[in-house]
Amino acid sequence: MSKPFSYEVLHVCKQSGARLGVLHTPHGDIPTPIYMPVGTSACVKAMTPREMKEIGTKILLSNTYHLHLRPGEALVKEAGGLHKFMGWDGPILTDSGGFQVFSLAGIRKIKEEGVTFQSHLDGSRQFIGPEESMDIQQALGSDIAMAFDVCSPYPCDWETAKKNMEITHRWAERCKQHHTREDQALFGIVQGAFYKDLRVESAKVLSDMDFIGYGIGGLSVGEPKPIMYEMLDELMPHMPEQKPRYLMGVGTPDCFIEAVIRGVDMFDCVLATRIARNGSVMTSKGRVVVKNGKYAHDFSPLDDQCDCYACKNFTRAYIRHLFNAKEITGGRLASIHNLRFLIHMMEEIREAIANDSLLDYRKEFYERYDLTKN
Ligand code: GUN
Ligand code: ZN
Repeated sequence: MSKPFSYEVLHVCKQSGARLGVLHTPHGDIPTPIYMPVGTSACVKAMTPREMKEIGTKILLSNTYHLHLRPGEALVKEAGGLHKFMGWDGPILTDSGGFQVFSLAGIRKIKEEGVTFQSHLDGSRQFIGPEESMDIQQALGSDIAMAFDVCSPYPCDWETAKKNMEITHRWAERCKQHHTREDQALFGIVQGAFYKDLRVESAKVLSDMDFIGYGIGGLSVGEPKPIMYEMLDELMPHMPEQKPRYLMGVGTPDCFIEAVIRGVDMFDCVLATRIARNGSVMTSKGRVVVKNGKYAHDFSPLDDQCDCYACKNFTRAYIRHLFNAKEITGGRLASIHNLRFLIHMMEEIREAIANDSLLDYRKEFYERYDLTKN
């Protein structure tokens, strides 16, 4: 039997060094670079799987932390696994819970065994360690599982960052030992906060553990963008070349381009769907707060460059009216558009890599895109 997972670099952009690749999974092939929409609780908010397919989604992300607390992995397993439960037959990546424990849960305590924390839902006492995270993700049956890690905050002193990185490495080894599902790939996660020496060490230690792919964690945690780019400049040359590299929790259109140029293959971010529900849309010129009164008489589409259902059929004035009248379809149309916008942008990036013109694409992007509206 051929391996259920393999990653191939198909082309390297002669202009930028960016990679074009394909990741084979049991639920389908994923072209890279790729943007993964976020379906935290087994649902991309306001969207159906049919709509996700229509806008060109190749892989979704879901969260171990949320699904463990509600409805619980036992129920998802009883339903036949996460794909059946949520009615999505394409690839799914689950984040390990490491990051969510730190960003969402109440009082938490990290020990060598794992993390004790308070549920953000009902305040109940919970425990997740590397073995528990693997058990949950294996019960969910995602295509790609992430190792259980500790993400340092920004800023963070070197000693704490080193301690968090080292426990992440020991937990990565325990995740590897405990993980048995052959139809699920396990990715390690590089940490090391904003210290070049730690990032390089983390890349080295995790490379030696030979994971199928690698998350780059602990970035986009509140630092200025140039600092994140500088970290990537330093780190990326130390990442295994023949493995997919996933920049976790990023982000915005400009970050996509900058990170792809530095060798990143995968991204996820809640931004598109979150701002959509608040009445903001991403466009080829920058962000537009479409719910604002100034769009009341604007009978143009959200973005005249976009091919989505919302842009083909409705005007800014209408969608602004829906937000104003608190009609939930407003948030749905804005979500369809924002997700399609990022997916389409990644299609253009892949095309530019194939044509060895990604630096030209970046230049054109910055010429039309207002970064102050981002
Ligand atoms: N999502 C965004 N950043 C991180 C991170 O550092 N670790 C994990 N597990 N998920 C993330
Ligand atoms: Zn659109």
